Amino acid sequence: VRILLLNGPNLNLLGLREPAIYGTATLAEVVARLERVAGELGVELANYHSNHEGDLVDRIQAAMTEGVHGLVINAGAYTHTSIALRDALLGTGLPFVEVHLSNLAKREPFRQVSLLADVASGVVQGFGVVGYELALRGLVRVLGEAVVR
Ligand code: DQA
Repeated sequence: VRILLLNGPNLNLLGLREPAIYGTATLAEVVARLERVAGELGVELANYHSNHEGDLVDRIQAAMTEGVHGLVINAGAYTHTSIALRDALLGTGLPFVEVHLSNLAKREPFRQVSLLADVASGVVQGFGVVGYELALRGLVRVLGEAVVR
């Protein structure tokens, strides 16, 4: 089973960026931790970050031909704005879990709209970097159920 981890704009600044909200772990540390968890779960993890909407769309499209079974995605601010990312994810037909470090329900009203959530298999938010692990575990569960059915 192959899973793609996608991180969108400004997540490359993790560790430096607003640490009171997003914590002190770097993106490299988050990815390394998730790779360990993927290993424990017996799944393969590919990982991509971009600050650019079109690059993320391209990467999502490429997942279709790369044997990816599902995605974990923190789309950053594009969560709240990007019909293009929503359409790309729908276009793949692949299950995905949306993850956010912060609890968006506690934040500005503009962050409380997600253009991805209603087409996601699930959403994990508010648990900091641990949320990525929870999202991966949830996605693996969803994929396991898909195989059984
Ligand atoms: C975020 C929340 C978004 O609103 C914000 O634009 C981010 C990070 C989070 O992980 O909490 O870049 O997705």
